[in-house]
Amino acid sequence: MERQSNQEWLDSVYEKLLAKMKAECQRVGTKIPYTTDKEDGTYHDITDSAMGEHAIGNWTNGFWPGMLWQMYEATGDEIYKTTAVGVEERLDVLLRDSDMVNHDLGFLFLLSSVANYRKTGNREARRRGLLAASLLSSRYNPDGKFIRAWPDSMADIMGRMLGDGDIRGVVIIDCMMNIPLLYWASEETGDPRFKKIAVSHAKTAQQYIVRPDGSCNHIIVFDPDTGEYLNNPGGQGYKQGSSWSRGQSWAVYGFALSYRHTGDQSFLDTAKQCAHYCIANMAVNDWLPLVDYRQPAEPLKYDSTAAMCTACGLLEIAAHVDKEEARFYTEAAYRILRACDGKFANWNPEQDSILTGGTYFYHDPTGDNTEVPIIYADYYFIEAVLRLKGKYLFEW
Ligand code: GLY
Repeated sequence: MERQSNQEWLDSVYEKLLAKMKAECQRVGTKIPYTTDKEDGTYHDITDSAMGEHAIGNWTNGFWPGMLWQMYEATGDEIYKTTAVGVEERLDVLLRDSDMVNHDLGFLFLLSSVANYRKTGNREARRRGLLAASLLSSRYNPDGKFIRAWPDSMADIMGRMLGDGDIRGVVIIDCMMNIPLLYWASEETGDPRFKKIAVSHAKTAQQYIVRPDGSCNHIIVFDPDTGEYLNNPGGQGYKQGSSWSRGQSWAVYGFALSYRHTGDQSFLDTAKQCAHYCIANMAVNDWLPLVDYRQPAEPLKYDSTAAMCTACGLLEIAAHVDKEEARFYTEAAYRILRACDGKFANWNPEQDSILTGGTYFYHDPTGDNTEVPIIYADYYFIEAVLRLKGKYLFEW
């Protein structure tokens, strides 16, 4: 059979997406999904999971409304808008709970309140977005020039992972996707404070997290009192010094977004450096993303979430370079999207979730969360497909 062109593939995926998302939105409503239930295969509300009621603060809870705003942009169907607003109202509680406030306010509020405001001009959504930006900027450590990642309420669990209880000086690459909330706040208010903090953090990440070959650390620890660099322990990847693919994807997309919001050429150069590293690693593996680009050959473990975020990052880079270069990044994005569609997609509208193949940690402490459906694989897949179709909402 002759291979479909990229355009044919895109058009057919778009039609499947419309059917799948309409049915999923009707079924799931304002429940906040994370993964499908192991027994019945459906999405349950995250607060009904083992995590309990505190799961309302989980960093992933913006992705469902983010998907709904994307679908609203593409179709104009009101069901997506009313459902997304219902989820946003559930997240409001996070802005009043110091235990839950951490650097993931960007993921949470860009994709819910700020998306709402960008699309509808709703003033309450704007208020939530600006409050979230204020809380995020309050996490800045001026001596270390970084945004602190985790809250004290996570000291036990995260401190154990680091082999040291002190998490006050921890920075993780993931935060590159949170700081666009600060860029937005400055653009919205005309007050440069937020952007200055974002740029300062991005420069620190550029200096300490990205390695010369385009690979990245996941975690960096600074002395919270002096700001002095201490060490770079391993995180969710294979081991210390390895290359966790989702972290790599946060770097590709995150630095490209910092370029978009600041025009600082060094951020685009860093985004490309990380992108070339990811492309080289995926191209030798049928465009499928390992959980860690430096994991052992066996067992073979994939992570579709890293693939989808990388694809979006490549499309963001393509938006800022000349036509010839843009073709290179866009073609790489297509290859990644098509490889994951072929291996991991479920287009049955009667079943929840599009992509399986998501892996949260390389060393999964629960033992059963390797290559499963994870909501943000679907978010980034939808964002990429709609961007290629020219129907997406810019949410970062
Ligand atoms: N931001 C947490 C993760 O990527 O797993």
